[in-house]
Amino acid sequence: TGSGSILVASNRGPLSFTVEDDGALSVKRGGGGLVSGLSSIEDADAVWVCAALTEGDRTAARQAPGGRLDRAGFTALPGAAGGGQNVRMLDIDPGTFARAYNGIANSTLWFVHHLLYNTPTAPNFDERFRKEWASYEAYNTAFADALAEEAAPGAAVLVQDYHLSLVPSLLRERRPDLRIGHFSHTPWAPSEYYRMLPDDVARDVLTGILGADRAAFLTRRWADAFADCCASVLGAEVRRPADGDLEVVYGGRTTRLGVHGLGADADFLRERAHRADVDSRLAGLREAVGDRRVVVRVDRTELSKNIVRGLLAYRHLLRTRPEWHDRVVHVAFAYPSRHDLPEYREYTAAVQRVAQEINDEFGTESWQPLILHVQDDFPRSLAAYRLADVALVNPIRDGMNLVAKEIPVVSEGGCALVLSREAGAYAELGEDAVTVNPYDVVATAEALHTALTMPIAERTDRCKRLAAAATALPPQQWFLDQLHALA
Ligand code: G6P
Repeated sequence: TGSGSILVASNRGPLSFTVEDDGALSVKRGGGGLVSGLSSIEDADAVWVCAALTEGDRTAARQAPGGRLDRAGFTALPGAAGGGQNVRMLDIDPGTFARAYNGIANSTLWFVHHLLYNTPTAPNFDERFRKEWASYEAYNTAFADALAEEAAPGAAVLVQDYHLSLVPSLLRERRPDLRIGHFSHTPWAPSEYYRMLPDDVARDVLTGILGADRAAFLTRRWADAFADCCASVLGAEVRRPADGDLEVVYGGRTTRLGVHGLGADADFLRERAHRADVDSRLAGLREAVGDRRVVVRVDRTELSKNIVRGLLAYRHLLRTRPEWHDRVVHVAFAYPSRHDLPEYREYTAAVQRVAQEINDEFGTESWQPLILHVQDDFPRSLAAYRLADVALVNPIRDGMNLVAKEIPVVSEGGCALVLSREAGAYAELGEDAVTVNPYDVVATAEALHTALTMPIAERTDRCKRLAAAATALPPQQWFLDQLHALA
């Protein structure tokens, strides 16, 4: 046993190291709800176990005794902010890691939960898949071993996401004394779709998560889907107490299912969005758009975000409602993501192609109808948030979608929100958004028109309610709620 009293496990950790030209290591702190949630814990015994993702991470992991970077050590490095947790980075064999992360986590489980397969031709669960699955098991085992080593007796362990679905049961075998939680940041597949997975894999993923005392989700819809899969694939008993959490009974154990709808971090966003680097980007954007209305979207270059249909909807709006020519600009910022996968590279190319077509069709000397940037630039995204008259969030399917929650908090003019009913955020924001079926390009174009013509008073009213709903469960509280629920 170790000394960690609170442990977090996730594929992507809170830090990322870079080897600089002179060979020295520098460190960058990651963003996101989990990072700010855990950094609010004043516990010197908290440990975050994650995978080494970059060459810098691997170097750092090799240099640290036992792979463990204690917070006193790494906060001294250039680029590190104060505070922070103890971090243990797992230096997993690169081939094993790539097969687990690209092959299983991102090409299989992510595809299943987001309904991304083109089913007449994919998936094919062939020999290559089997090798990837074996690597996923090895990668999950490496996490379970490290957690078993780091955890103090009776510690609470919060395992994150689809990369680590086997960890709860593997860890319970090693350390039955621990309290184990699993959190899914994705949707959960409907059972008919989930059952595409090979039978043994479908079972192992479910029983892996059921090794936890508590399995939590972003909305009730995804918790229900998980329970349905447990019933139909495992024949597990699902209890639905009228006044409490769902429970899944399987193999003599009961796992409670929880729902924690992660919210936006209003304090962080408002402060961050008014720093000088954001101000200067905002000035540039203002110059580009002039006094025109602005439709903003910000996503990873992610198939499930439905960027192409969003652009087609904007094109349809310009084709059918010429009154918007020269009166609107669509600002679309996309962060490059998962470009090791050919599907993602092709998708990014399709986004760029359609964007070009739109500018070719409608652009004039004085008006560029669409500004697309494929680049990682957080301050520029915040500048776009501030400028938004309309936020477009139209995923095919999304665990939550924090952008839908962040833009109403930051927008200066009180934006209208066009929101897919298939995003987890819909459960909390649906009432004050203009909602769309993400596959319906014509209806999405109409929704954009409705949002663009919404009377200002109504827009600002709705935006206030959106921002209140979006910040109801800030990351720190989200994190603490899970800890308390495990106790
Ligand atoms: C989603 C997942 C996270 C993941 C993030 C970025 O939000 O739920 O677990 O970290 O996407 O994806 P990446 O593959 O770059 O870590």
